Amino acid sequence: MSDSLIRVLPSHVIDRIAAGEVVERPSSVVKELCENAVDAGAGAIHVDIDGGGLERISVSDDGCGMSPPDATLALERHATSKLWEPEDLSAIRTLGFRGEALSSIASVCRMTLTTRRAQDDVGTRVLICGGEVESMQEIGCPVGTTVDVRNIFYNTPARRAFMRSAATEQAHVVDAVTRVVLGARKGGVLLTSGGGRHLLDLPEDGSEANRVCTALGKRVTRVYPFEHQADGIAVSGYVTRPDVNRGDARGMWLFVNGRFVRDRMLQRAVLEGFRSLLERGRYPYAVVFLDVDPAAVDVNVHPQKLEVRFQQTNPIFRAVASTLNGTLARSPWLSGDGLAAPQTTVQSALRQARDTQPLRVIPEPLQVSLDDMAKARLTMAAVSEGELCGYENLTAAASGGPFSTLRPVGQVMGVYLLCEGDGAIFVIDQHAAHERVAFERLRAQRRGGDVVRQSLLFPEIIEVSSNDEVVLSDNAAAFLRLGFEIELVGPRRWAVRSIPAELAGADAKPLVNDLLDEVGLLGRDQLAGAAEDQLMAVLSRIACHAAVRAGDNLKNQEIAALLTQMDSIDFGAHCPHGRPVYHRIGRAELDRIFHRS
Ligand SMILES: Nc1ncnc2c1ncn2[C@@H]1O[C@H](COP(=O)(O)OP(=O)(O)O)[C@@H](O)[C@H]1O
Ligand SMILES: [Mg+2]
Repeated sequence: MSDSLIRVLPSHVIDRIAAGEVVERPSSVVKELCENAVDAGAGAIHVDIDGGGLERISVSDDGCGMSPPDATLALERHATSKLWEPEDLSAIRTLGFRGEALSSIASVCRMTLTTRRAQDDVGTRVLICGGEVESMQEIGCPVGTTVDVRNIFYNTPARRAFMRSAATEQAHVVDAVTRVVLGARKGGVLLTSGGGRHLLDLPEDGSEANRVCTALGKRVTRVYPFEHQADGIAVSGYVTRPDVNRGDARGMWLFVNGRFVRDRMLQRAVLEGFRSLLERGRYPYAVVFLDVDPAAVDVNVHPQKLEVRFQQTNPIFRAVASTLNGTLARSPWLSGDGLAAPQTTVQSALRQARDTQPLRVIPEPLQVSLDDMAKARLTMAAVSEGELCGYENLTAAASGGPFSTLRPVGQVMGVYLLCEGDGAIFVIDQHAAHERVAFERLRAQRRGGDVVRQSLLFPEIIEVSSNDEVVLSDNAAAFLRLGFEIELVGPRRWAVRSIPAELAGADAKPLVNDLLDEVGLLGRDQLAGAAEDQLMAVLSRIACHAAVRAGDNLKNQEIAALLTQMDSIDFGAHCPHGRPVYHRIGRAELDRIFHRS
């Protein structure tokens, strides 16, 4: 007997081991094949599966194709065209680089690879079974590559036993395809089952917002784009209104340099971006594309390439959180922002009302939400939906003020204001309404110069951390412009001498703490150079403090005053945090409830 018990494993065993990591289930095969198609520069990808991919998977692309020798070489382990030098590994720009997908997949199924380059007259077809090449022949075929995979895991019964139903596997396949194609940000994909039934269709020429909506599922009918770039970190993507959210993190799609990733830090950054907008345990819908220097991120962490490591996490966390925060603070779902000409609002509201297609996406700020429609309806009292009206009448009606013409009925439950008018009952969230008013006024003041200050009778002394102390001394002038006069009175002790007049009566200490928090989030602790949307985020945060708290007792006279204030601003139907401000219950709805119709 030999003394050595150790052997170097034969390559077909190594392939099988690698396959265990790379090919977890049919969707991992689909993912790898689609990634190859994207790396090959495909414009259109067609994926067809049988039995959720357990019986058959076929992925065709119109990419660059392979030469005859490459067609067999590609099936060897560690064969790749994407990596030449060890240095290349530190700056990966392609989705693949490990050169183990095709060999792993080929080792656990029957595979047919058909491929042709544009410069070749004929294509090549290679048949592989259990990792062994069975045949190779010339064949006429279009430019591009088709990989056909059958009987996945036929020689790995243990793995096959773990597979769920075809329906479950199919759902994973849809996810996998969507992730690759969304990440590529170009190219189209058609995913069918049994050669015919469409499971997913993201056309090459469709808008990205449309794709994102399709990807995020039925509940998402409208998304809002965002984009921000600074210090070599580009963050872009789409969010929905915060009140469209879910109880799990499956609505959060994160991409790093085009690659779908699962990353806790990024997830936390997104949640931080949404902060107060979501209740505990709720998660947003957000598709976030992060683009950084490939040298600053290590993608070679996981065989399925689902994890990444960043050289520096803090700047990335802050970039993602503050971009989202700024976007949400701008409340793009309000029609009031920038493009609030009444005719536009009304016209598109009417167009929208007639539009019965559920999956239409209008990502521009021009769009109107259902609540805006309600507002438009409210503004135009007598105009019936579907009928294009002269807006002269509307503007006249609007100048009377849709809210101030309501009759206050009273405060209920200590939180809501009940009003009547325009043949309907209006329930107003008093806190949200106040917050919106304060935010708009602060914003208007800020645009016109400095925010109006109100001195405190007794300056409030606050003790701060050394970190915050730096922020305070660096930003004294900027704070002053925002209405805060804060002065050093001792080591780590600061006196708040004035706050924005709009916030009169608010508690200064939490207010300043929030301000410090918000400025800290800007990343550079410098308010002076902050972009407008970042300033808006700061204002929206401090506006919360102005609001009459839920529970404050309001008399009808005060309600009337609030309604007038609501008319005096560029008012949208939501508080700056995205919660609705009012709800309208029409006569028709009441009649229906009481069977009067
Ligand atoms: N659809 C395709 N079109 C063109 N070339 C492909 C395609 N799929 C695979 N290849 C070639 O085969 C090689 C091996 O593929 P793979 O095993 O997935 O490894 P990797 O993608 O990590 O390089 C690729 O580097 C590429 O050159
Ligand atoms: Mg690959």
